[in-house]
Amino acid sequence: MLMENFQYYNPTKILFGKDVIDQLCTEASVYGKKCIIIIGQGSVKKSGLYARVLSLMNISGLEHVTFEGVKSNPLYQDAEEAIELAKENKVDLIVAIGGGSVIDTAKAVAMGFYADHSVWDFYLQKAPRPTKALPLLNILTLAATGTEMNSATVLQDTVSGMKKGYSAPCLFPKVSFLDPTFTQTVPLNYTAYGVADLISHSLEQFFGKGDAPLSDLYTASVIKLAIDYGLKIRKDPENFEYRSQIMWLATNALNGTLKAGKNSGDWGVHGLEHTLSVLYDIPHGAGLSIVYPAWLKQHQPQINAKLAFLAKHVFEIQETDEVLAANIFITQLEAFFTQIETPIRLNQADIHINDQEKIISNFKLNKVTGSVYPLGEKEYEEILAKMW
Ligand code: NZQ
Ligand code: ZN
Repeated sequence: MLMENFQYYNPTKILFGKDVIDQLCTEASVYGKKCIIIIGQGSVKKSGLYARVLSLMNISGLEHVTFEGVKSNPLYQDAEEAIELAKENKVDLIVAIGGGSVIDTAKAVAMGFYADHSVWDFYLQKAPRPTKALPLLNILTLAATGTEMNSATVLQDTVSGMKKGYSAPCLFPKVSFLDPTFTQTVPLNYTAYGVADLISHSLEQFFGKGDAPLSDLYTASVIKLAIDYGLKIRKDPENFEYRSQIMWLATNALNGTLKAGKNSGDWGVHGLEHTLSVLYDIPHGAGLSIVYPAWLKQHQPQINAKLAFLAKHVFEIQETDEVLAANIFITQLEAFFTQIETPIRLNQADIHINDQEKIISNFKLNKVTGSVYPLGEKEYEEILAKMW
C-alpha cells in the first residue's frame, strides 16, 4: 500500500494560553464592527466568561447581539433562529463561546447568513456548497471535537431522526482562542467524553486507507498522551498543565494533521454514534466509547496488524503474536474508558436491548457506512450485538 495523495490546508489562527482572549477585539476588528455572540445553555454565564467578553467588547466598541441556548447535540432549528438574528442585525462576524455544539451552530450561522434556503439543506446535500461565510472567531470552553480548527459542523434534526456532518473550506474559523483555564470548570464526565472523542478521532483517521507511518506514529502518540492526561486530570481536575495538554491534543486530533496520507479516514464509528445521540441525546463522547470497542471487535480479523501496532506504541505491549496483541489493545482501551467512567455498553447509558430494532432502523435511515470498512444491515446487527 502507498501513501495516499492529500491536500493539507488549515488557515485557522490559534491563540493558545492564559488570557489570550484579551486579544479578542484586536483580532475581531479585522473583520468588522458588529458581531453576533453565540453561547450554549448557561455555563459561560456561570463561569463569568460571558461577562468578561462583554466587558472587552464594550471597552473596544465592538457592537454585539447574543443568541443564547444552543443545546448539546445541537439542533438545526436553533441555528436557523440565530441566522435570523444575525440577518436582522446585519452583523459582520460571529464570536462563539462554548464547546463543539456552540461552535458547530456558529458555523451553520456563518454559511446560513448568505443563503436563501434552510441551512439544513446544506447538511442534506440539497444545496450547492457555500463559497461565502461570515468570519468566525471562537473561544473554546471544552476540549473534545477539534471544531475550533477544522471546517466541519454537525447538527441534528430530532424530528426526522437525522444527525449530519457537513464541511466546506469557508467554514474554517478565522481565529480560535484556546485558554485552558476555561476548561477547568468542565465536569469530570464531560472531560472524559472529550478524551474519548479525541481518541476516537485519532482512530477514525488511523483506519483510513494508505500507508503513512508519520501519521500512524503521530496518532499513537496522541492516543498515548490522551490516556496519560485523561487519567491524571481525574486526580486534579483544575490542573492547568493537564487541561492544557488535553486541549491541544483534542485540537490536533482533528485539525487535518493525522489524516495526511490516510485518505481522510474511515468514520463509520462516528456515523453509528451520531444516530445514537439523535435517538437518545447521549453525549457524543459517551456514545463513541460504546461504539468503538464493538466496531474494533467486529473488524478485528481485518485489522489485527493495525491493532498490534497500537498495542505496541500506545500501551507498550511487547506481545509478538498479532492477534494476542490486538486483543490486549481492545481490552486495555475498554479498561481505560471504564477507569475514566465513560460507558462501554449501551445499558450503562440506560439504553436497553428492547430498542434493538429502533436503533437498526435509525442506522439505515442515516445510511451509516465507513469509507474503508463498509457497513450494511449485517454489520449493523453484528456491531450492535457487541454493544450490549
Ligand atoms: O451549553 P452549556 O451551558 O455551555 O454547557 C455545555 C454542555 O452542557 C457544557 N460545557 C461546555 N463548556 C463548559 C461546560 N460546562 C462547564 N464548564 C465549561 N467550560 O458541556 C456540555 C457539552 O457541550 P458540547 O458543546 O455539546 O460538547 P462537545 O464539545 O463535546 O460537542 C459535541 C458536539 O460536537 C459534535 C458532536 O456530534 C456533538 O454534537 N462534533 C463535532 C465535530 C466537528 N465539528 O468537527 C466532530 C466531532 O466528531 C463531533 O461529531
Ligand atoms: Zn467525534
